[in-house]
Amino acid sequence: MEYEEIVRRLRELVTQPVLRIAPEKMKKVIGAFEDLTPRSKELFVKAKTLIPGGLEHNLSIKHPYPVVIDKALGPYMWDVDGNQYIDFLSCGGPIILGHNYAPIRDAVAEVVQNNQAAHGVTSEYEIKAIEQIKKYVPSVELFRFFASGTESNMAALRVARVFTGKNKIIKIGGSYHGWGDQLVYDMHIPGIKAIESHGIPSSVLKHTLSIPPNNEKKLRRVFKKYENDVAAIIVEPLGGESGTHPIKPGWNQILREVCDENGALLIFDEVVSGFRMAMGGAQEYYNVKPDLTAFGKIITHGFPMCGGVGGREDVMIHFAAGIEGVEKGKKRTYTGGTVTANPITCAACYHTIKAIAETNAIEKAAAAGDRLTKGLEELFEKYNLPFVAFNFKSVLHIETGAPLALKLSDPDIFNQINVRKKVMDEFQAALLTEGVFTLAGSRGYTTMAHTNEIIDQALEAYDRVLQLVA
Ligand SMILES: Cc1ncc(COP(=O)(O)O)c(C=O)c1O
Repeated sequence: MEYEEIVRRLRELVTQPVLRIAPEKMKKVIGAFEDLTPRSKELFVKAKTLIPGGLEHNLSIKHPYPVVIDKALGPYMWDVDGNQYIDFLSCGGPIILGHNYAPIRDAVAEVVQNNQAAHGVTSEYEIKAIEQIKKYVPSVELFRFFASGTESNMAALRVARVFTGKNKIIKIGGSYHGWGDQLVYDMHIPGIKAIESHGIPSSVLKHTLSIPPNNEKKLRRVFKKYENDVAAIIVEPLGGESGTHPIKPGWNQILREVCDENGALLIFDEVVSGFRMAMGGAQEYYNVKPDLTAFGKIITHGFPMCGGVGGREDVMIHFAAGIEGVEKGKKRTYTGGTVTANPITCAACYHTIKAIAETNAIEKAAAAGDRLTKGLEELFEKYNLPFVAFNFKSVLHIETGAPLALKLSDPDIFNQINVRKKVMDEFQAALLTEGVFTLAGSRGYTTMAHTNEIIDQALEAYDRVLQLVA
């Protein structure tokens, strides 16, 4: 679906009364859910005595309670009660080859058996993994690993400041770049500013500037206001929240131009889009070369410590490690991580990227994404529902309640957010009883393990759930 059409449909969806599963039907759904998942319920009761809120995974379902997963393989997950789910959560993005992909698992198992999980210094796999990344992402002249997408973005901001000697960072409203202090600002709904920034001193946020998505005028105005003090723009090249707030055609090129005109760096947060939109990431897909790229998720295919920053040599050199730091006269960007770039991470990274290239996983996952999106749109039409499904290759958006499509200027906005979020949760619960796992009820990532047959089974499950609304 094209940008204009997505924007029009989403606006239509949130300017009409929210559609939900009728309360008496929802009661039956919850009853069925509870019958299917007694062990998950029991464990959640225990978890609440051990973990704040009983849950530490933002992307887990919460309504009526989280299901506890026992194992995952290929396109499926199984919970502790033995229920099987077609999984579109895909760990929140890291999985594109299918869960527990044997060549990666076996290579990591070999490292654990024969080498050592971590020893605090370099291994050959570190070199081999970075060679793989460089092979496919030409903007990466040098690369270093970090522990997560959050850390990668934190490090990218810091090195951008060291290199440029400037202070301000521009982010795009509604984007998510992890939970680092300076980037927990203006997330989810553009314009919301510091509403979610509890525990972060305003002095920390004073160098974070946010502009509305797709707004070149405001962008140029900010550059003018902070003349010569903007170190970088950081952006999700698919649009905020992986395209929840889609970008107009040419937006990434505009960002590149404005950065070049003002001596600022362009940082692409490719934590989701890297090795999912193309082997060269969204930068290949949109043909825009950033100065720095933050990586995460897919680069280790679910194995721990999945982060890294790559980019221009003259910028990246400021990350050089060691007591003496970088060459004389150059400032060092201090970073660290005792077990970062450990052999497990690096072996997983090397074998993941190799496997994605060899299997053509990106296009296979994208074909599954297209099929699911098309099928969902047909179902919405069949039942005359205003819901919207759109995808960027294997990144899927399935909007029913669509709370993030609201605008801050919409009437009764905060109540609307809550109501619409609840609707999404209800859909997710209903889908679970039908054996389909999504990301928060509104997103999904397809993998190459999602065959046509599996996508069609998922569509049958959606059909049954949508009948509860229609
Ligand atoms: C675009 C983007 N950047 C950064 C992050 C943070 O990555 P991590 O959860 O590994 O810290 C995420 C996580 O969802 C993300 O989607």
